[in-house]
Amino acid sequence: MIANRDALATLRKRFESNLTTVALGRHTQWLREAESTNSVARIWADQGAVHGSLVFADHQTGGRGRHDRTWITSPGLNLTVSLALRPDFPASRYGLITLAASLAVNATIQHLCAAVNTKIKWPNDLLVNNRKCCGMLLESVIAGDTRESYVILGIGLNVNEVEFPESIQQVATSLKLATGQQYEREFVLVELLNRLEEQLRVLDTEPERIVSAYQSCMAGLGNPLLVNDVHSGESFEGILMGVDSTGALLLKMNTQVQAFHAGEIKLL
Ligand code: BTN
Repeated sequence: MIANRDALATLRKRFESNLTTVALGRHTQWLREAESTNSVARIWADQGAVHGSLVFADHQTGGRGRHDRTWITSPGLNLTVSLALRPDFPASRYGLITLAASLAVNATIQHLCAAVNTKIKWPNDLLVNNRKCCGMLLESVIAGDTRESYVILGIGLNVNEVEFPESIQQVATSLKLATGQQYEREFVLVELLNRLEEQLRVLDTEPERIVSAYQSCMAGLGNPLLVNDVHSGESFEGILMGVDSTGALLLKMNTQVQAFHAGEIKLL
């Protein structure tokens, strides 16, 4: 874990002096420890946190993953951050934030780690050399009054981790494991927020560009795949065709194409 408050303040200062965004990361909380940055950001958003407010935790003790799983990371090595977003576009487009955020993380990794192979595993796992390097948890609160609606985007990016729990050792990786280099987390975060702001701008003006860019980065496109539908618990096998205009996964089974809005996929 980070040595002391001064070390955290230094990290914050270096972050602030490099950030070039308009809104993302302009209001921040830097915590040495938090149970879950998503939970902290949610409370903050309920109290009125502005668009782009960011929560950083050096050590997350109760990180939450998708489908009620946990997200475990070692203190001081990785990025565990959450953003409170209040987009101008309608809530019907919130599902595409996950695509825009995946593209931003993908571009960040490609920029920082030349020559590694990156792919997005639907909906928002970032694979580096076919292993998971980043996961995201989006939680939205949609109110009658759109000014009260918000999305919490939580990002867990493995940066300098070199030892994973045995249960995920074969499937997880980090930037350091992929390249052999050590990364300054605050600079990784700056790169990520700059790109995320750009992707959210595109999502606001030309959402179809997000969909097509996302499709070109998808793992398993055109290949056989298993989808576990979380609502029904059923599994479906088919060919991955891409995503539709809402971000739902398109699976071709025999002659029919079916859309899945939530689920877990397994590349075959
Ligand atoms: C997943 O792949 O299941 C999603 C993992 C999301 C983890 C991040 S870490 C920061 C934020 N706070 C949380 O509690 N979860 C997200």
